[in-house]
Amino acid sequence: MSQLFSPLTLRSVTLPNRIAVSPMCQYSVTAEDGVPTDWHLVHLGSRAVGGAGLVIAEATAVEARGRISPQDTGIWNDEQVEAWKRITAFIKEHGAVPGIQLAHAGRKAVGDWTPVAPTTEPFPGLNTPEKLEHHSGIVKAFVDGALRALEAGFEVLEIHAAHGYLLHEYYSPLTNEGSTEERIAVPVEVTAAVRAAVGPDVPVLVRISGTDWEPGGWTADDSVVLAQALKAAGADLIDVSSGGNTAQAEIPIGPGYQVPLAEAVRRKADVPTGAVGLITEAKQAEQVVADGSADLVLLGRELLRDPYWPLHAAQQLGAEVRAPEQYARAF
Ligand code: FNR
Repeated sequence: MSQLFSPLTLRSVTLPNRIAVSPMCQYSVTAEDGVPTDWHLVHLGSRAVGGAGLVIAEATAVEARGRISPQDTGIWNDEQVEAWKRITAFIKEHGAVPGIQLAHAGRKAVGDWTPVAPTTEPFPGLNTPEKLEHHSGIVKAFVDGALRALEAGFEVLEIHAAHGYLLHEYYSPLTNEGSTEERIAVPVEVTAAVRAAVGPDVPVLVRISGTDWEPGGWTADDSVVLAQALKAAGADLIDVSSGGNTAQAEIPIGPGYQVPLAEAVRRKADVPTGAVGLITEAKQAEQVVADGSADLVLLGRELLRDPYWPLHAAQQLGAEVRAPEQYARAF
């Protein structure tokens, strides 16, 4: 029995398997309006057809200045909600669960606006941020984005608190001051506010950077403290990535290099986790789940190379292959 192809229930939602499309910016809106396009329908739709259990739409900005680039999707107005509806409906029609990553770029925005951050130190090469003295507007933007996402048909929400973007900037000692408890306060408050707004049925995931890979930076042990607090705030699963808050960290990149971070968070904080990063082989993904390192496996580039990776993996692992009827003669 494949563990990778066993269902995963998070609150009221059951994913048909443990394979998720990792959120990936497509830089494919037609104007600077954050409205998803046919590209997003085809890109995300293909991966639903390809058999991923959870399809997470790219880092989608909760406010305009929170876009990573002017080409990013958004979820701050009704036009965007309407455009997402067609995409979420298609994903569901093909047996996958539509998820969205709610994001704020913080000081790593590359548009021609003044970014905001808990610091006035710019990310190397980018605009100097304005220091956020109050965070209540940020919390509200995430809550409004979460409610709009549900209206748009998304069934799983992921809060982006990784890769050097705003919520990571709050908890990393490289970009904020104060004790660990003080620095994690804003990401935890955002999570609690989103949970309170969406109610008890909606799965809320949080992507964190499990380490800054920097001396004096955020560590794997800090991530356990954060994960415990996020769990208490209502998060259902911690998606453990790493890095992104500095320009030149020395990252020991290799197959499954972030899996041990997910495993440590899962074991020490007693919370479900997602593992991501250079997971490319069916047996490798199966092992991550079977070993108890993570509950969910997220694939990025491998699913760009092969949208049908889950169907191929099911064949290899002897699991039921859920190919769409139209493709039945191929699998
Ligand atoms: C990414 N990644 C990413 N991560 C994230 O949290 N939000 C995002 O919007 C994006 N955007 C993005 C775009 C593209 C084109 C790539 C390749 C990557 C990171 C991605 O989700 C994943 O964590 C990494 O790519 C590592 O996983 P893989 O690709 O080794 O499976």
